[in-house]
Amino acid sequence: MSRHRVGQAGQIDALGSRIAVVGGEEIALFKLTDGEVLAVENRCPHKGGKLSEGMVCGSAVHCPLHDWKIDLRTGQAQAPDEGSVRTYAADVDADGSVWVETAERPDAASALEAARGAGTAPASASGREGRP
Ligand code: FES
Repeated sequence: MSRHRVGQAGQIDALGSRIAVVGGEEIALFKLTDGEVLAVENRCPHKGGKLSEGMVCGSAVHCPLHDWKIDLRTGQAQAPDEGSVRTYAADVDADGSVWVETAERPDAASALEAARGAGTAPASASGREGRP
């Protein structure tokens, strides 16, 4: 396991998201209303939608493509949908830095990017399609 500093918690709005790229893998970071930061693979288990562009509700995110609900703590899709995404241990230190643990080497590149451009607006439900 390796710990990676992927940015500052202040860069993520409550119920918003950011993307961290660690070892070439996109990780979606979500901040809950209590300030907790949760991290999951940024790829929906259904058809690969960017979960970072989904709407956060409680400790789950709704995929922006077909509205599957993914639990951000377990990575599991809510029934009747099936599948899961990888979850990562994440924490915020006393300085407000966000750290994510991965299986990647410590020298792997890390970067924090806006989920949508340079904005820090909360995730939006716009652009949804109907469920299949
Ligand atoms: S790609 Fe996420 S619900 Fe279809």
